[in-house]
Amino acid sequence: MINILIVGSGGREHAMAWKIKQSPKLNQLFIAPGNAGTSLLGTNIEVGVSDFEGLKKAALDNRIDLVLVGPEVPLCEGLHDYFLVDKSLQHIKVVGPQKLGAQLEGSKDFAKEFMVRHQIPTAKYCSVTAETLSEGLAFLKTMTSPYVLKADGLAAGKGVLIIGELAEAENSLKEMLDGQFGVASQKVVVEEFLSGIECSVFAITDGKDYKILPVAKDYKRIGEGDTGLNTGGMGAISPVSFADEIFMNKVEERIIRPTVEGLQKDQIPYNGFLFFGLISVQGEPMVIEYNVRMGDPETEAVMLRIKSDFVDLLIGAADSTLSEKTIEIDDRTAAAVMLVAGGYPGPYEKGKIISGLENVENSFAFHAGTNYRNGEICTNGGRVIAVSSYGNSMQEALSLSYKNAQLINFEGKYFRKDLGFDL
Ligand code: AMP
Ligand code: GLY
Repeated sequence: MINILIVGSGGREHAMAWKIKQSPKLNQLFIAPGNAGTSLLGTNIEVGVSDFEGLKKAALDNRIDLVLVGPEVPLCEGLHDYFLVDKSLQHIKVVGPQKLGAQLEGSKDFAKEFMVRHQIPTAKYCSVTAETLSEGLAFLKTMTSPYVLKADGLAAGKGVLIIGELAEAENSLKEMLDGQFGVASQKVVVEEFLSGIECSVFAITDGKDYKILPVAKDYKRIGEGDTGLNTGGMGAISPVSFADEIFMNKVEERIIRPTVEGLQKDQIPYNGFLFFGLISVQGEPMVIEYNVRMGDPETEAVMLRIKSDFVDLLIGAADSTLSEKTIEIDDRTAAAVMLVAGGYPGPYEKGKIISGLENVENSFAFHAGTNYRNGEICTNGGRVIAVSSYGNSMQEALSLSYKNAQLINFEGKYFRKDLGFDL
């Protein structure tokens, strides 16, 4: 029986808390900082995800055995490393890579070099800095429209520009290097545009062995038909019809296994999740990006489909005993529909009272951005609630989520009604 601390405050963390809570291996569950939803499953601790000293105190005060890190920022900042070097924390396991491995997400240039070194299929690219601008401009000329420019560092999902005109792309490249995204765009990856349909593949690994988790598709745009601004994610569906056995075998042989073997060859320790952002180019999987954590809102669908004890898998990843573990997947479909605040992903208000949560039936309302104000559950973010359901088909899972999405209310509520339109 172990005490677990989840770091994070979104729907991903609530869904993980829900799954962890079902484990016979769990003693006590804590979430830092958590949200109104996680407070119903464990104890929230008011400490931010980048407050390493605060997390240390929370871990020691509550005799934590395992820390599960939800978001990428503390991983890229070295939270795992911090726990490894502090003698008083060395007995605590951390799920989430150390800073070195977290660069797979924290630096697009690092990720590209890794993929090239290990022959993992990805778009052609050129990394550019202010010093090598002329090479970058020359490379752009060898590409065809549209042009893809990516800030090297973390940019909260906003660092990728896809541009139609060459002249505009040349200008944007200069602007990015000039600090458009701060230090994140001191280096820019210029990339070949790939055309196809995307999906999110997840694995949990101890750096030697891995288990593949259910595949999902997320919907990033705010508007129906995948139009409008990018968001953190408006919903997710698992499994994904085009990611069939043939496709997933290619993914495992060409991408997942070479990635884990590459980590070993490069002597990069890695205990945590690998998230492969993939695109199917006429049935051939290519890597768009690596993330070093679970996806959000994909997790709000994926957790429903993991039948095995999730805590056992976390322990396997942390202790490097994953080869002894098994993973069993639910055959049903899971669909998560995100309810967001009016105005999101632009400016939006917080603090709107959420009503009707008690009416939700046969779905799970995972809280993405909520808190308690004067005893009431209120909105506390752009993404507010992910409504997740099972179904024997995609349509069945979605219609259940949509039915329950209607029962939850807050001023300005919006959700996409066309999820799955492309599958
Ligand atoms: P990323 O932050 O790398 O996931 O990029 C954000 C989004 O931009 C991806 O989900 C894709 O939809 C798109 N994208 C990124 N790179 C490419 C590419 N090389 N070709 C086509 N689309 C891309
Ligand atoms: N849903 C995509 C992400 O978590 O980055």
